[in-house]
Amino acid sequence: MKPRNKREWPLKQVNRLIQTGPVVLVTTAHAGRSNIMPMSWHTMLDFDPPLVGCVISREHFTYELLERSRECVLNIPTAPLAREVVRCGSVSGRKKDKWAMCGWTPEPATVVSAPLIPSCYAHLECRVRDDSWASRYDFIVLEVVRAWVARGVELPETLHHVHGPEFLVPGRRLKVTMR
Ligand SMILES: Cc1cc2nc3c(=O)[nH]c(=O)nc-3n(C[C@H](O)[C@H](O)[C@H](O)COP(=O)(O)O)c2cc1C
Repeated sequence: MKPRNKREWPLKQVNRLIQTGPVVLVTTAHAGRSNIMPMSWHTMLDFDPPLVGCVISREHFTYELLERSRECVLNIPTAPLAREVVRCGSVSGRKKDKWAMCGWTPEPATVVSAPLIPSCYAHLECRVRDDSWASRYDFIVLEVVRAWVARGVELPETLHHVHGPEFLVPGRRLKVTMR
């Protein structure tokens, strides 16, 4: 028996249903090189200190820079930056300077060596806390050591990745009041 009014969803596309957190742009820097990588596979793990679990493929240039510097910034882009997000995800920083490609000027962060992307809505300065699952699942736990958010933005149009160049953008804020 199948559930009523439902169609079966392919297991290989389960990520499209569940990956709802905002896409972040991971910036890294080491030995004079700096890079940008979109990442949608991440999850909060703890409040205090804030810990974020991330999947960053060991094949990516970002992984190499992160492994060496042990620091990064998670920059949170909004809808006007969607095109640049997709472009940054379709080429490796080993071959291309993504800062120049996007026409962005890096801004120094305050406590980590990786830079901020100024046009992003928010920035989480992070240090690698645990990479013991990196060789198994490409999974890295980051500790957020400082965070910044744009003033006066009520409803940030964050990008929630569905697949390829397709995103969902939140349209309203819903606050439940209990009687
Ligand atoms: C919207 C989007 C989300 C992505 N999410 C991830 C992710 O969570 N983890 C990952 O390893 N790669 C992810 N990628 C793929 C990398 O961003 C892509 O392979 C990138 O070119 C790697 O860059 P680098 O080699 O310069 O680090 C994503 C790409 C896009 C466009």
